[in-house]
Amino acid sequence: MSAFPRAGAAGNPRIVRIRAMMPGDLPAVAAVERASYAFPWSEGIFRDCLRVGYLCRVVEVDGTIAGYGIVAMGADEAHLLNLCVRADLRGRGLGRRMLLLLVERARASGAEAVFLEVRPSNPGAIALYESEGFVRVGLRKGYYQAAGGREDALVLKRDLLAGRHPPPA
Ligand SMILES: CC(C)(COP(=O)(O)OP(=O)(O)OC[C@H]1O[C@@H](n2cnc3c(N)ncnc32)[C@H](O)[C@@H]1OP(=O)(O)O)[C@@H](O)C(=O)NCCC(=O)NCCS
Repeated sequence: MSAFPRAGAAGNPRIVRIRAMMPGDLPAVAAVERASYAFPWSEGIFRDCLRVGYLCRVVEVDGTIAGYGIVAMGADEAHLLNLCVRADLRGRGLGRRMLLLLVERARASGAEAVFLEVRPSNPGAIALYESEGFVRVGLRKGYYQAAGGREDALVLKRDLLAGRHPPPA
């Protein structure tokens, strides 16, 4: 995996910080979203995620919003709803760091599994998820909007109980 932080333009190491998303972040978050997806969430959807208490985190690089992740927590299941890194900062490990943090927060909150949907046409994201232990468990037909109509979603799951209780000998 590529190293991060990488020096900024002036040669200074970049400062990376992951923190809770706040209402004041929403314009910047929505701007990253619009630049990243053909069918982006509106700013209002992010506001709703904050309002209902989803786990909403941003990653800042040198004080600017570089990405975000959103997880809906259920009784014993978590659902990763969005994970996004600004295009100019991709490929430096930020997505993986966010994913690891969100999964650990879900585990700490008692989730036994994390689920997510991903477009089959998104091999980079699929590679990230599978390298972190997510496995394909299903397909939702026509789940996403797409240029030519609809696109299926792969459903991926990471079991958080595996290894927690060793099977009896
Ligand atoms: C998916 C996304 C969040 C990954 O963030 P990132 O910061 O670029 O990812 P990282 O640098 O942490 O890379 C982690 C792994 O992802 C995979 N990956 C990331 N980009 C990839 C690409 N373009 N091609 C292939 N694999 C890729 C690799 O397995 C990589 O591990 P490696 O560096 O050891 O090879 C980012 O590409 C993004 O925001 N994409 C647009 C939004 C999106 O599609 N989100 C996912 C919705 S389900």
